[in-house]
Amino acid sequence: MKILAFESSCDETAVAVVEDGRKVLSDAIASQADMHALYGGVVPEIASRKHVEVIAALTEQALRQASCTREDIDAVAVTYAPGLIGAVLVGLSFAKSMAFALGVPLIPVHHVRGHIAANYLAFPELEPPFLALAISGGNTLIVDVRDYTDLHILGATRDDAAGECFDKAARVLGLPYPGGAPLDRLAQQSQGGVYRLPLSHVDGAPLDMSFSGLKTAVVNLAHHTQQVGEELDRAALARDFAQAVSDTLVPRAMEALRQTGRKVLCAAGGVAANSIIRGDLERACAKAGCRLYLPPLRLCGDNGAMIGAQGYYEYLAGHVADMSLNAYATRAIEAEINAD
Ligand code: KG4
Repeated sequence: MKILAFESSCDETAVAVVEDGRKVLSDAIASQADMHALYGGVVPEIASRKHVEVIAALTEQALRQASCTREDIDAVAVTYAPGLIGAVLVGLSFAKSMAFALGVPLIPVHHVRGHIAANYLAFPELEPPFLALAISGGNTLIVDVRDYTDLHILGATRDDAAGECFDKAARVLGLPYPGGAPLDRLAQQSQGGVYRLPLSHVDGAPLDMSFSGLKTAVVNLAHHTQQVGEELDRAALARDFAQAVSDTLVPRAMEALRQTGRKVLCAAGGVAANSIIRGDLERACAKAGCRLYLPPLRLCGDNGAMIGAQGYYEYLAGHVADMSLNAYATRAIEAEINAD
C-alpha cells in the first residue's frame, strides 16, 4: 500500500511516499529555518505562507522521486495536530483535496505519533509494545506504545518542551535559530561542570518534567554575567545546560521502563538528535539491560515519511476521516481521531 504523506505543522513542509508503513520511496523536505532565523524563532504567518508556496511543487517532487504517478497512490496521510494552526491547515487542506481528487482514503496522523513511528522506518524489526521518549520543539513525553495506535502518556512536561528550552538557551548564547544543533556542537567543546543549574521535579508525579526553571536560570545566568562584566564560558554553559536537560529526561525514561517492565525504549523528535542525551540513554539502557533504538538524525526532525509510517498503521486500525476533518493546535496523543 502506497501512502502519500504530508507534514506542515511547523517550519518544514514535507511530502513523502511510504510503502506499507516501513519503506520510504521518497521523502521531500523544504525547510524554512533560514527565513525564521532572521526573527530568532518561527513566525507563524510566514510559516503558513511558505507552506502554501511550496507544497504543490514538493508533492510533484515526492511523486517523481518515488517513481509514482498519482494513480499509484492508495491513501493520503496528513498531520492534523498538534502544531501552528495556520501551518497545519495548509497541509491538511492540500491533503484533503488530494484524497478527494484521487478518490482515496484520508488518514489523519497525530504529529508526535509520527515522530515515534520514524523508528519503524529505521528499524524493520521494531514492533510494539515499547516505551518512547518523544522530545521535540513542541512536545516532551514519555509514552507507552502498547500497540501501533494504542498510546498512553506516562510522563510529560508541565511547561516548556525540551526543544523550546534548547532554542531559548541557544539564543542567550548567541547561537542562530533553531539553536538545538549549534548548542550541541558548542557543548562538545567543553567538559562542563562550571555552572550549577537547577533540576526540577514535580511533586507526586515522578515521571513528569518541568523545563521553565532551567530555561530561566540559563537566561538569568547569561544576563547576570554580562551585567557584572564577567566573561561567560559559553561552551561550558552549553554543556552544563544540555547535561541538565539529559539529567531530567534520561532517569525518568529509565524509571518508566522499570515501572512498566518494558524492555525496549525508542527515542523520537528533534531533540533526540542531541549527542549528550543519546550517549546518556545508551549508557543507561546498557546498564538496565534494555534495548535502545535511536533513530538516525535525519529521521529525528520533522519529515513526511514518519507521517506515512504512522498513517499506515492508523489506516489498518480503521482510523480514516472524511472531508470534515479539522486541524488542531493542541491534541492529546491518545485522542480518538474523530472525537472533538
Ligand atoms: O522534531 P522537531 O524537528 O520539530 C518539532 O516537531 O518540534 O524538533 C525541533 C527541535 C528544535 O527545538 C531544535 O532546536 C531541536 O529539535 N534540536 C536539537 C538538536 N537538533 C535539533 N536539540 C538538541 N540537540 C540537537 N542536536
